[in-house]
Amino acid sequence: MRILITGGAGYIGSHTLLEVLNAGHEAHVIDNLSNSSPTALSRVKQLTNRDFGFTEGDIRDRDAIQSAVDAFQPEAVIHFAALKAVGKSVVDPMPYFHNNVYGTLVLLDALRESSCRRFAFSSSATVYGDPQYLPIDEQHPLSVTNPYGRTKLQMEGILEDLARSDPSWSIALLRYFNPVGAHASGRIGEDPNGIPDNLMPFIAQVAVGRREALNVFGDDYDTADGTGVRDYIHVVDVARAHLAAVDWCAGGDGEGRGCEAFNLGTGRGTSVLEMATAFGKACGKPIPINIAPRRPGDVATMFAHPGKAEQTFGWRAEFSVDEMCQSSWNWQSQNPQGYSAE
Ligand code: NAD
Ligand code: WQD
Repeated sequence: MRILITGGAGYIGSHTLLEVLNAGHEAHVIDNLSNSSPTALSRVKQLTNRDFGFTEGDIRDRDAIQSAVDAFQPEAVIHFAALKAVGKSVVDPMPYFHNNVYGTLVLLDALRESSCRRFAFSSSATVYGDPQYLPIDEQHPLSVTNPYGRTKLQMEGILEDLARSDPSWSIALLRYFNPVGAHASGRIGEDPNGIPDNLMPFIAQVAVGRREALNVFGDDYDTADGTGVRDYIHVVDVARAHLAAVDWCAGGDGEGRGCEAFNLGTGRGTSVLEMATAFGKACGKPIPINIAPRRPGDVATMFAHPGKAEQTFGWRAEFSVDEMCQSSWNWQSQNPQGYSAE
């Protein structure tokens, strides 16, 4: 299949690109490199020994997107390109609405001019807001707690309306829980700009000596050890779920599948302290920690009911928390400064 991947140079995008190429598909990447490095793309080429097209451009640039769509004639689109920093979206929401909502509309407009009606959308467990019950299944009520989450929820609604209006669409809304880890080669991985917002890249930078200690945001939650519990999922599992979702989109016997949401999680919760301990085991030395105040907006516990993706397209997460930590350490220790060294 010819698969267009927006945001393909990013963290999840580059891992998915690699799986897409290894599965024998053709790929074309669109990325403006606003939060990624071209080195990720060259490394995917080396790792797969496969070539693919690349448009360095913004999804809001209709001419650039239309040219890429017209030339490549995608049979499916995997749409990662978006801004993702929750805290920044609260302070300065407009870039989030522009990139995540308007950018996606431009992309969808360009697709209307093509015959491609298969679309996998990067959504997020953030659309569930504060959990009302656990594990969280796809029926859980949806709500918004920040502008970033609003962009995901708005796009989910728009994509549902689109599929309702035109039954030839097959749209998978993929709600990721907490993607972490790296490809087994250690050649591609997560490389955030500045101080990492998220737990795993922060721990990895402590382990490699770039930061002194992990600040544990709260140890007085109603959880087994008092620290926040999340459903961490290996990025390679997330990447493979996209392949399964695209196959599902393609398998409608000529009919579209409509628009369906799927959780991408493991169904297991891991606390901050458990994660720090597992990482310490992976890197061979304990991760120093400071207990810090709770981070505003955090919930105590979140984990997925991941069964729908397995029942519908036969995907389930395979990797353990130890493997997530080992692969993350493998990437970070080989690339202490991320991609910036190249
Ligand atoms: P990332 O920042 O590493 O990747 C996003 C990519 O999109 C980057 O390469 C960036 O340069 C590109 N991009 C951003 N805006 C663009 C634009 N206007 N035009 C073209 N390219 C643009 O992020 P990621 O972690 O790989 O996340 C991928 C997707 O998954 C995002 O949509 C994100 O919201 C979603 N998501 C991520 C997580 C997570 O924890 N990483 C969790 C849930 C959902
Ligand atoms: C995990 C746990 C923190 C950093 C975010 C987004 C969500 C989704 C995934 C995009 C929490 C604790 C963290 C640190 C800590 N992204 N922590 N010290 O908040 O579950 O989800 O990323 O869609 O929308 O909100 O992930 O990795 O930031 O935090 O103690 O330095 O680690 O309090 O309990 P989160 P996270």
